[in-house]
Amino acid sequence: MVWRILIGVIVVIAVAFGTFYAWAWRGEIPPLQAHDASSFDPSIVARGAQLAAVASCDVCHTKAGGKPYAGGYPVKTPFGTIYGPNVTPDRETGIGTWSAVAFRRAMREGVTRKGQHLYPAFPYDHFTYATDSDINAIYAFIMTREPVRQANRPPDIVFPLNIRLFAAGWKLLFLHRGPYRNEADKDDSWARGAYLTVSLGHCGACHTPRNKFGVEEQNRAFDGGEGEGWRAPPLNENSRAPVPWTADAMFNYLRHGYDTVHGHTAGPMANVAHNLSKASEKDVRAIATYVTSLSGARAGAANPESIKTAVTAASKLTAPAYGGTPAHQTTGSAAGKDSLGAKIFTGACVTCHHSGGGLPVSRPIDLGLSTVINEDDPTNLLHIILTGIHPLPGRAGRIMPGFEGALTDAQVVALADYLRTRFSHRPHWNTVAGALAKIRHQRQTAATEAPQ
Ligand code: HEC
Ligand code: HEC
Ligand code: HEC
Repeated sequence: MVWRILIGVIVVIAVAFGTFYAWAWRGEIPPLQAHDASSFDPSIVARGAQLAAVASCDVCHTKAGGKPYAGGYPVKTPFGTIYGPNVTPDRETGIGTWSAVAFRRAMREGVTRKGQHLYPAFPYDHFTYATDSDINAIYAFIMTREPVRQANRPPDIVFPLNIRLFAAGWKLLFLHRGPYRNEADKDDSWARGAYLTVSLGHCGACHTPRNKFGVEEQNRAFDGGEGEGWRAPPLNENSRAPVPWTADAMFNYLRHGYDTVHGHTAGPMANVAHNLSKASEKDVRAIATYVTSLSGARAGAANPESIKTAVTAASKLTAPAYGGTPAHQTTGSAAGKDSLGAKIFTGACVTCHHSGGGLPVSRPIDLGLSTVINEDDPTNLLHIILTGIHPLPGRAGRIMPGFEGALTDAQVVALADYLRTRFSHRPHWNTVAGALAKIRHQRQTAATEAPQ
């Protein structure tokens, strides 16, 4: 009897696995015998370049100091590190043998030309929604890059997840395949923006929270997530921006990495904005239109009068030039003018972050306007205090020095408490010390990891 049950169970498992294996199996797509970069229509290549910029393909496929698209960038996941492969048209180490059919399958289903399953660290769960013509344009752009011979680095993932069939299991459970259908009743720019945000822009990959399987929680879309150890703030009605976003402010921020009322990109968003500066202006405006509409309940607040009121209210919190105490500040608390945090602020920050009256032009935004001081979590503020703000390599831009070596942990915590109390009306943070320890740890491991 026991044996019968056991055999029965084994048979059921074998059949289930066989069925899954058959479902998961993908054949090899024949290699291209040769490809001729000059065969692609230059206008399609140009369009592909703009769409690849919307998708930030270069970020994950270029390692620090490496050749563009030649791979090696470490994409960190809770399950291990996966390196963006070489996607230049090199025939040995890149994707020079991939046909458009193989490329579309990779973007839609996360499968290599040979039929191996790719991990969703490659955001094909978003790219799957892109149209054929958009994917074909990106293909034309990629296949006309300079081929670079650079071998791929295998993923560092824990057993058993390093078995690629697990990626197939993930897809069976969680991948909804595109293409994307627009809602018909919205104006064109909004619809185009919705399509780009959800598909190539993969904005939700960072801005939507993920569950323990690494899947975006669709019922909490754009409610704030994580990217490279930074908090990607909520873009929906839970946005903590002290001044409601308008489509114009959003366009400035996305296109130029800076808006006079919302401040500067500092972390992973700096790369996104740098890429969007190379995308089509119309597409970036469309994304801005859509993303601004996400803050729904707050959108009604985004009229010129209420924006002015919000800006004035936030500016009142800001440090008067060199000293003085704003009215809402209580002495003796973390914000007290003799507290440790206040002293550090006066010594290290006020030279640049003082208030000069009127809207800022060349000096940093009033800190009361900054999202980072108003977020639920202090992580991004701590990143900025430690590492400062720097233009991307090779570009001009605003600079704030980092204070990593200059301040002790206790001083950073006191400073963060002070800034929160002084420049925001939101509740006290209880998590500063923990968040700081986590960031210090991340930065240490990043520094000691052997580059390859
Ligand atoms: C968030 C990071 C990220 C972005 C953005 C990204 N990729 Fe990738 N991509 C990856 C990773 C990681 C892999 C490897 C996954 C694996 O090994 O399972 C990958 C795999 C690929 C592959 C398969 C290559 C091979 O040899 O197996 C192609 C093709 C590809 N990406 C193209 C693109 C294109 C085109 C874009 C932009 C539209 C893009 N990727 C954007 C991270 C990214
Ligand atoms: C790689 C992760 C990542 C991706 C992809 C990403 N973001 Fe971000 N985003 C962040 C992080 C982290 C921040 C916090 C500030 C920073 O990094 O400079 C941010 C900040 C923002 C902000 C500022 C919010 C505020 O209230 O201050 C906006 C708006 C924004 N992102 C929109 C977008 C849009 C639109 C897209 C898609 C085109 C996008 N993001 C894609 C990580 C990402
Ligand atoms: C040398 C000038 C300088 C000093 C000193 C400086 N900052 Fe900055 N800070 C900047 C610039 C420039 C920016 C980015 C431009 C902007 O936000 O308008 C910035 C941005 C910021 C932001 C992000 C604002 C946003 O865009 O959302 C915070 C928070 C911040 N600084 C805090 C501090 C703190 C805390 C100190 C002291 C430990 C400090 N800064 C010292 C120049 C400086």
